[in-house]
Formats: sequence, C-alpha cells, structure tokens
Amino acid sequence: MNSFRVNEVTRRLGVDHPIIQGPFGGGLSTAKLAATVANLGGLGSYGAHMLPPERIGPVADEIRALTDKPFALNLWVSDHDEGGDRIEPDTFERAWPLFAPYFRELGLDKPVPPERGHPRYDEQIDALLEARPPAFSFVFGIPSPRILTECRRRDIVTIGAATSIAEAQALEDAGVDLIVATGAEAGGHRPSFLARAEESLMGTLPLVQLVAARVRTPVIAAGGIADARGTRAAFALGAQAVQIGTAFLACEESGTTDAHRDVLFSDRAQHTTLTRAFTGRLARGVRNRWTEEMAPRIAQLPPFPTASWFVSQLRPAAIAAGRTDLVSLWSGQIAPNLRHRSATALMQSLLSDLEREALDAPPSHAKETIA
Ligand SMILES: Cc1cc2nc3c(=O)[nH]c(=O)nc-3n(C[C@H](O)[C@H](O)[C@H](O)COP(=O)(O)O)c2cc1C
Repeated sequence: MNSFRVNEVTRRLGVDHPIIQGPFGGGLSTAKLAATVANLGGLGSYGAHMLPPERIGPVADEIRALTDKPFALNLWVSDHDEGGDRIEPDTFERAWPLFAPYFRELGLDKPVPPERGHPRYDEQIDALLEARPPAFSFVFGIPSPRILTECRRRDIVTIGAATSIAEAQALEDAGVDLIVATGAEAGGHRPSFLARAEESLMGTLPLVQLVAARVRTPVIAAGGIADARGTRAAFALGAQAVQIGTAFLACEESGTTDAHRDVLFSDRAQHTTLTRAFTGRLARGVRNRWTEEMAPRIAQLPPFPTASWFVSQLRPAAIAAGRTDLVSLWSGQIAPNLRHRSATALMQSLLSDLEREALDAPPSHAKETIA
C-alpha cells in the first residue's frame, strides 16, 4: 500500500502528509483554514472562483502571512453554462416568477440585474499565475496548454478533478500533475466536464480503483472521507492522497455560518440530495424546503450562474433571519460521522490515527464524542 508519509503526491506538493483540505467556492474558504491545515503538514486550499481577479493576489498574500507552507488556489475552468454568460433582461424576467415568492416572504424587493456578471476564469487565471501559488487546483474542465505550460514554468503544481475514467484520461493526456477522483458522495458541486453531471455519478469506491488502474498520474481520492479509516480505504484502492471537504467545512475555521455547521452535526445531515436548485449546476447538500420545492421546477431554472445570482440576492436576509430552509446547506454523505469542530483537532486526530498500525473498533459517533 502507498505510504501515508512520503509518496509521489507529498513529494510533488512538498507537504509532510498526503492530506488535502478541499477548496470551497462561494465564499466558504478562509485563509485561516488553508493556513491551519498547511501548518500541520497537509495541503490547505482556497476556492477562488467567486473572487474578482484583483482579489486573488491579496488572498494569496493573506495565506502567506499565516504560513510558509504550500497551499493551493482553486478555480472553475468553465465559468458559465449555455445562456448564462450574462443576465439578459428576458432571462431575468422569465426566471423572476420562480424566485419572487421567496423574496416576498423575506420582505425583499425585486432585485436589479447586475451590470457585470460572474468573474471570468480567463481573467482570474492571469491573476492566479501572477500570484504564483505553490499549487493550482481546478474543476469543471482542463486549462489550456498555454496555462499548463505557464504553471510548469512557474513551478505551480496542477491538480485537476475527474468524475469518470474519461475525464481522468483527458487530464492525464493534458499533462496535469495530479488527479482528484471525486466520487458522487462528495459535498458541493459535481465537477463533471465531459458528460452531464447526472450521467457521471460514480461513487468513490469504484472511481478511485478504475482511475488508479488506468492512469500513471498520482490519484487523490475525494468524496466520503472524513477520518483515518476512510483515508486507509482510499489508499487500499490505489489513491496516494485524500481530499477532505465536508469535515473541514464543519470546522470553526471555515467561512460558513454556525447555522450550517449545526445542521452538519445534526440528524438532518443523514439526508443529503444532489440538486441544481441553488446554482443551476448539480451539487450535494442537506435537503431542505428549497431543494424540495424547487425539485419539480428544475427545468424552469435559469442556467448557471444566473440561478446562483438570484439565490445570492436572498441569502444575506435568509441568514440574518436564521432561515436554514432557504439557503444551501452543502454537505457530503459522510457528515453524520463528523467529530471535530476545529481543523487542528481534525488534522491531529487523522494523523495520530494514521500513525497507529491498526484501527481496532469503528469509532464511536455518540453525540458526546464531538469535540
Ligand atoms: C461547500 C463546498 C464547496 C466546494 N467548492 C469547491 C470548489 O470551489 N472547487 C473544488 O475544486 N472543490 C470544491 N468542493 C469539493 C471539495 O473541495 C472536496 O473535493 C469534496 O468536498 C470532498 O468530498 P467530501 O465533502 O465528501 O469530503 C466543495 C465542497 C463543498 C462541501
């Protein structure tokens, strides 16, 4: 089995442990979380896909002020779906009736469409190259050969995400350094780019085995991993590192709300769903009133990121009112087993459990063990 200490992934990334804190888009990443994980020998990550290009350099500086260890910045290579590159007045008016009742419920006026749309990947990537993070991870596609060459020239390790064998092979053919095999158990968006996300729902268990047997590029397992037991399982399947998302999202250092964290530690976390209802792209989160009421109306949703923009106009008021029924509660399927509320405790427990020769009994997840 691959070593938990030194292997191809730790060597390329220059980290002590093959543990990656998954990046979070949507403002849920923090410099503190990335730096905490980096300082404990893992790879911290920061999801930058919502940042305007001029914010990317300052975020890298914030992380560097907290750690001198390697970290990754993350972007979405595809920044819109068909018809979503800007919010045209007719798209806006057609979508409005779907959202209007919720705006009324929260006492909000009809919003005014933005002058500028979602930040452009083409502009973000230039800012990222300029910021020169030790690693660049990405989802929803493959950067152009020019960008990958620039990364190599600047010693930026590239990490791409695959949800199928074909995507992993495409990443390898493009010369990407490391591949994240992301199972459908994972929280957040399903980052498929060769087929529809709904047709790319393989779980981590088969995906890691199938991909690791077919590519020479080192494989990182993601989806459904939150502790040493899951990490060992991923290594047994052929992974050389793990990327953990939901367990870090639940920690106090992440950028999410306390209400979301409380849901992740509650029985509600047993019920996740894959839904397009919040952004227009398929993503996994805890079921709530929004996912249920939107389910029969998915075909009426505007494309990504227009749907996301409408939801973002509601979000601050919903959060201020403590309304977890109307906001996204991103979560992977492993959430009911989460035990740690701090990234330091999570990392330390992972590392000490991995050090031990064998894990005896499955850990207890009785409520009083959550620390
Ligand atoms: C709220 C949330 C946001 C995420 N945003 C991104 C992102 O912007 N880019 C990315 O590469 N992965 C993103 N992910 C995926 C994680 O980095 C990670 O691969 C995944 O959560 C692993 O599965 P797990 O949740 O079962 O641990 C996100 C995950 C969550 C839960």
